[in-house]
Amino acid sequence: MNDLSFFLPCAAGVEEFLAQEVHALTGRAGQDLLSLRGGVRVRAGWRDGLKLNLHSRLAQRVLVELAHGPYRNENDLYALASGVAWEIWFTPKQTFKIETTAQHSPLQSLNFATLRIKDAIADRFRAKANGVRPSIETQWPDCRVFAHLTTDTCTLYIDTSGEPLFKRGWRQDKGDAPLKETLAAAMLAASGWWNPETGEVSGQPLYDPCCGSGTIAIEAAQIARGIAAGSLRRFGFEKLLPFQAHVWSAIRQEAKEGEGAAAGSGTPVFGSDVSHRMVDFAQRNAERAGVAQAVEFRGGDALQRMPPAEGGVIMLNPPYGERIAVGGVAGAGGGGRPGAREAAQSSEGDGGDFFPQLATHWKKNYAGWTAWVLTPDLKLPKLMRLKESRRVPMWNGPIECRLFRFDMVAGSARG
Ligand SMILES: C[S@@+](CC[C@H](N)C(=O)[O-])C[C@H]1O[C@@H](n2cnc3c(N)ncnc32)[C@H](O)[C@@H]1O
Repeated sequence: MNDLSFFLPCAAGVEEFLAQEVHALTGRAGQDLLSLRGGVRVRAGWRDGLKLNLHSRLAQRVLVELAHGPYRNENDLYALASGVAWEIWFTPKQTFKIETTAQHSPLQSLNFATLRIKDAIADRFRAKANGVRPSIETQWPDCRVFAHLTTDTCTLYIDTSGEPLFKRGWRQDKGDAPLKETLAAAMLAASGWWNPETGEVSGQPLYDPCCGSGTIAIEAAQIARGIAAGSLRRFGFEKLLPFQAHVWSAIRQEAKEGEGAAAGSGTPVFGSDVSHRMVDFAQRNAERAGVAQAVEFRGGDALQRMPPAEGGVIMLNPPYGERIAVGGVAGAGGGGRPGAREAAQSSEGDGGDFFPQLATHWKKNYAGWTAWVLTPDLKLPKLMRLKESRRVPMWNGPIECRLFRFDMVAGSARG
């Protein structure tokens, strides 16, 4: 198969890191690798597409662009979709689903637009396959078609990922507000702890004191150990016609051989959480992710836990708002009792002292550490009475956040 045009969507703000990762995985650069708004476009081979699915930690999915053209109405969409050789990608016996997204499209109804694209695909198959056409399945389709509409252009893609790539396959136990694995990886990249261009890690110990189900720590430990992000899951391309089992198994084998040989293998990673239930979840998730030996999880209040290493990087998305209440000594349940978080959630306090107390605890006990805190609260530095040395915009789904960096300097009131 000749080169294909892949589009890898990602969260806003992550494009440059994703471009670095894609460069490392495909070797493509220049006009073949473009960082666009909300994703990266790369011209590469089919085999590269499989590798991107298996290894990318930052992409939401890997799409192949099949058509791009102007439109004014639904008939133009029908014509564009009719011209695509869908029969190269799947058979009329398979099911499919179309997902349409739009930015400033003048069309009245996206549902109707989707319907016309569906008709075009079905009619094309019917004409080519003696009246047989694939049927729609919205929950577990064999293949997914994506349509993206702007004011006046439509792009049609076939998806190669299936379930979105943040689903790594190891998370079965999760708390109330788990972080997406792709966002955890983006935090690690933005902090410089992980370099997506070289695949290397800084080697500094990493600690998440509010680890919940363990996403940041597990993602970090997998990176340090060279474990491919998608090593535990299946992919949409396995059901597409160009799929060849031997090519895929060679790519997987190559990835397996790279595991453990990674230079950062010995990097210590720690997590703790005031909820012992969460620590159990994190531990089980780490076992499934193949990093149980590489991460040390413990129970305990972030306001009381002492540094697990002499220095390093603290990284967390702390409890925020109503969804996840503060537990431990600063929580409304108070008293530092184990399991106080559950109590905190049902009572009135908001743990408002948590952040100033956390800053005091860090200043006193974590001199020399660098802390990276992801929060939607833009006033967090003020609340913590710390001056951030960096602020990186990031999106947690639809929520605009900042990743703040605080450098802990002993005895300094400014942190
Ligand atoms: C937003 S969640 C973190 C989610 C996590 N990154 C994940 O992916 O699952 C915040 C976590 O902080 C924990 N927490 C609340 N108060 C705490 C405290 N005082 N000390 C340590 N952890 C606390 C909660 O139990 C919750 O798991």
